[in-house]
Amino acid sequence: MADAHEILLAPSILAGDHADLKSSIQEIANAGLKWVHLDIMDGHFVPNLSFGPQTVKALRAYSDLFFDVHLMLDNPDKYIDAFLDAGSEQITIHVEPNYPVAETLAYIKSKGCKCGVVLNPDTPAEDAKPFLKDCDMVLLMTVQPGFGGQSFREDVLPKIEQISKWRDEMGLNFRLEIDGGVDLKTAGLCTERGADTLVAGTAFFKAADRAEFINTVCKQ
Ligand code: DX5
Ligand code: ZN
Repeated sequence: MADAHEILLAPSILAGDHADLKSSIQEIANAGLKWVHLDIMDGHFVPNLSFGPQTVKALRAYSDLFFDVHLMLDNPDKYIDAFLDAGSEQITIHVEPNYPVAETLAYIKSKGCKCGVVLNPDTPAEDAKPFLKDCDMVLLMTVQPGFGGQSFREDVLPKIEQISKWRDEMGLNFRLEIDGGVDLKTAGLCTERGADTLVAGTAFFKAADRAEFINTVCKQ
């Protein structure tokens, strides 16, 4: 079994100040964190729009955080170059839409960028299995994607266990990331089941004491 990854918190900039994302991303760095999660939405795959590669590229110039880019797009394969050019260090793509997932993962990797697949809450773990060997990251949604501030879906917990079990059985070493409704109460439910990378938007930006929030959710 590969050594467990250090537990990381990747705040979602979706919950930041959209009139001043530069400051929001600097708040993440000032909190001593290494990753930022960037939620990209197309208004088709999810019923919301967020921001695109031009915004990511603009933020890139002001930050040396690890850019963890989550593409909630109907056809992510059409936008990989744009997000690579914008400075993404990891790109995760959903398995639900109809496009060549394996080829897209291979293309992202061929450009020296980390890659991964994302599963919506109702998508079975089996839908990720064919791709696990190609992934640096598996991202499990614990809310229906589209909006921050939703409630954590505990029915996804068995899926965390299942993906974590396959990682061990297959001798793989991808990170296991959870996105949606992660807070002081729900973070431990994820990490005790093998998750090691936590996305928190609302809970991070609204935390009364960010240092205490980080220490609590990232407790190994
Ligand atoms: C949903 C988004 C959210 C966001 C985090 O599409 O992906 O899950 O990252 O949201 P909260 O505010 O629940 O942490
Ligand atoms: Zn996300």
